[in-house]
Amino acid sequence: MSEAKGIGVLAICGSLRTGSYNRAALRTAIELKPPGMTIETADIGSIPLYNEDVLARGFPAPVETLRRQIAAADALLFVTPEYNYSMPGVLKNAIDWASRPPDQPFAGKPVAMMGASPGMGGTVRAQYDLRRSCVFLDMHPLNKPEVFIGAAQTKFDAAGRFTDEAGRGFIRDLMVALEQWTRQIGRK
Ligand SMILES: Cc1cc2nc3c(=O)[nH]c(=O)nc-3n(C[C@H](O)[C@H](O)[C@H](O)COP(=O)(O)O)c2cc1C
Repeated sequence: MSEAKGIGVLAICGSLRTGSYNRAALRTAIELKPPGMTIETADIGSIPLYNEDVLARGFPAPVETLRRQIAAADALLFVTPEYNYSMPGVLKNAIDWASRPPDQPFAGKPVAMMGASPGMGGTVRAQYDLRRSCVFLDMHPLNKPEVFIGAAQTKFDAAGRFTDEAGRGFIRDLMVALEQWTRQIGRK
């Protein structure tokens, strides 16, 4: 009997700051992922602002890299803050660049998402906007579990470790569900 192949996930985080709760939540997902799953983190910090005139000269190198990483991934994990009730511009900008034809690489990809914020909503509005973009780009966002980490300032210690046991369980469940979803829709 052959062993099932591991799922390769590309994680895209919408916060660039070093002490980010969302980057810390992503580290938690890497810590709690199921055996065999690998998670690579995209670097979207050097992507320029979207400009069709720039695109006319070709995709900038960091966009090429991101598009290649997305195309190669079995599944995607978005980890997003909420800015003004939506996803941050840096994340939307990265999605906008990567989504341009030809061969937009998001199509068909299974997607999980989560987010953290000091507010009580824990990025619920940002994630629902992100889901809308996923739909337009023909991704397959996982419905549940939804992972909204509210009151984040009370749930991460000084070293950036996510200490909330219930929340850690949700992240673990999310990564297991992403693995099952990726196999269910035949991407692995
Ligand atoms: C421009 C801006 C807008 C924000 N808007 C929201 C918001 O709509 N909802 C929310 O819960 N937090 C909001 N915040 C607070 C962020 O959730 C907080 O800065 C959070 O720490 C960002 O995520 P990070 O820790 O991963 O960088 C906003 C922050 C900024 C800088």
